[in-house]
Amino acid sequence: MSSLENLSREDRTFPPSPEFAAQANATAALYDEAAADRLGFWAKQAEYLHWDKKWDQVLDWKPPFAKWFIGGKLNASYNCLDRHVLEGRGDRVAFYFEGEPGDARAITYAQMLHDVKKATNALIELGVKSGDRVAIYMPMIPEAAVAMLACARIGALHSVVFGGFSADSLITRINDADATLVITADGGFRKGAAFALKPIIDEALAMEPNNVRNVLVFKRTGQEVPFNSAIDIWWHDIVDRQSAEHTAEFFDAEHPLFILYTSGTTGKPKGIFHTTGGYLTQTSFTHRMVFDIKPEKDVYWCTADIGWITGHSYVVYGPLINGTTQVMYEGTPDTPTKGRIFEIVEKYKVTILYTAPTLIRTWMKWGEEFPKAHNLTSLRLLGSVGEPINPEAWIWYRDVIGGGKCPIVDTWWQTETGALMISPLPGVTACKPGSAMRALPGISAQVVNDEAVALGNGSGGYLVLTEPWPSMLRGIWGSDERYQETYWSRFEGKYFAGDGAKLDEDGAIWLLGRVDDVMLVSGHNISTTEVESSLVSHPNVAEAAVVGATDAMTGQAIVAFVILRGGIPSVGGDELIKDLKAHVSKHIGPIARPSRILVVNELPKTRSGKIMRRLLRDVAENRAVGDSTTLADPHVMKLIQSGLASSTSDD
Ligand code: WT7
Repeated sequence: MSSLENLSREDRTFPPSPEFAAQANATAALYDEAAADRLGFWAKQAEYLHWDKKWDQVLDWKPPFAKWFIGGKLNASYNCLDRHVLEGRGDRVAFYFEGEPGDARAITYAQMLHDVKKATNALIELGVKSGDRVAIYMPMIPEAAVAMLACARIGALHSVVFGGFSADSLITRINDADATLVITADGGFRKGAAFALKPIIDEALAMEPNNVRNVLVFKRTGQEVPFNSAIDIWWHDIVDRQSAEHTAEFFDAEHPLFILYTSGTTGKPKGIFHTTGGYLTQTSFTHRMVFDIKPEKDVYWCTADIGWITGHSYVVYGPLINGTTQVMYEGTPDTPTKGRIFEIVEKYKVTILYTAPTLIRTWMKWGEEFPKAHNLTSLRLLGSVGEPINPEAWIWYRDVIGGGKCPIVDTWWQTETGALMISPLPGVTACKPGSAMRALPGISAQVVNDEAVALGNGSGGYLVLTEPWPSMLRGIWGSDERYQETYWSRFEGKYFAGDGAKLDEDGAIWLLGRVDDVMLVSGHNISTTEVESSLVSHPNVAEAAVVGATDAMTGQAIVAFVILRGGIPSVGGDELIKDLKAHVSKHIGPIARPSRILVVNELPKTRSGKIMRRLLRDVAENRAVGDSTTLADPHVMKLIQSGLASSTSDD
């Protein structure tokens, strides 16, 4: 990819409403302040945290190794909890927990602190020490956050493994981090039934030699689980009898906080490693500014699972540091009905909702009757993360969920970046639907070509970050070499994010998906994201995935898989396909016209909701489908293939 074609254009802009701007946390001055003195700016944001000892130096940068707030001492758990209780905010609700079966609990900051202190004392009794690694494999319940904060409190690193991962993935992660303790639950609730977690731990631990000494098991569902009293301990047996006193110890700003594995598209999972001071500074700052948090008034809900970075930064650390009241939901969006999320928004009068484009497009597919059946007027700001949001999905989110009045923040970042990097500032930025707009104050991003030369407006290439940032990964656990090689070798001295991006005529940043997903059609680089967004802008399409399939004539040919929208009458089969091709041709240009369009009911997605285009490329090129073990639903590929056997849709 030398540069990406700058094909589509988006002329709609949504300036902030004067009412929102008048009360916004963020101001345009933040950009100037950060530009004038970047390190001073971050130091000012760090002062928001409680430090037992202030730092001596803001940044030590020996590319690609950064240290922030050197000499400073703080405790993550203290910043999230003790501080609020000591300053009189103990009675504020930290979590409104909503279990999938309908059980609900409101947990205050004082209660969280009490629970975390007891869990901490249990960890100490189990011999966990500062620097040890603890694997956490739990459903989305408050005890998952309690477990994380108990680790942080004593300087042990948590390594949360998403509860949907298999025994195989689990043992790889346990052993890569050399964890000595696993914290889990008997199981959790999902899609109307209890699922098991504990037996998967047993299976994992039997697969390979390991150094796990104990498995701490929280009872969530009450199902029968195998129990080996030599290493297994019930949470209620050990945590409940602990003292509720524990004085937090303060650690170095660069003390390791956690490891979180990201699978990437190929290869062994990478243990992304984050430290304390810089990470807490940037997560809390971005949470205050980008979500416009007013902790006394807002009810914030980030729908991400704790097993992902979004759950770490924007359910646990950022929001708790800011004293936020949030909703935590255990289950799936369609149980017991497709209106579940909207029912919960109504119940708790949620004001800020942060979710992923995959869910927004799923809602579009289900139809408007579900959101329309609930009162969503409490919402005042909406966020999106995880993938590019198609302009049409953005507009739908704004109109149908946000009642046309909520600013939308499309937030670009990664497990590696630890916190938001590119996003509008609500109340400041005039937004274009589908664009993450510009780098946040204190962050330096560029779009470059193959030769690492920064491109001007109106061109596309690779997204890079040119200056270190406080919450940046400090490495890949156990491999500095792989860290250098993966992120810092492609463009000398710049962090390569792996994403394609373009700058439009006004300099707004458009994320174009992973660079592996760019297509080369008759010598033109075309982004899958742009063609997908064009398809989604057709009234009949809810979701689209586009791949380049090898083609004798054009190098690659564009093949699209589309899911149709619910509740909208559609012209029939071949007519619709023709119509969709003409639509893309008109919208982007004839070069982007798909050569084949296949209507499907599902798309293959990872457990974090990202489309696995590699598998669709196998289908488009008539190959046996490759490794699909990381799919959220392993049956999807079979469904897609059997559905396609009957349909032909070539020109
Ligand atoms: C990749 C990182 C960061 C939390 C969730 C995912 C894609 C993320 C956006 C966005 C376009 C986005 C990128 C990025 N991505 N947010 N707003 N617009 N693309 O974390 O699993 O580490 O994935 O997700 O491709 O590189 P992750």
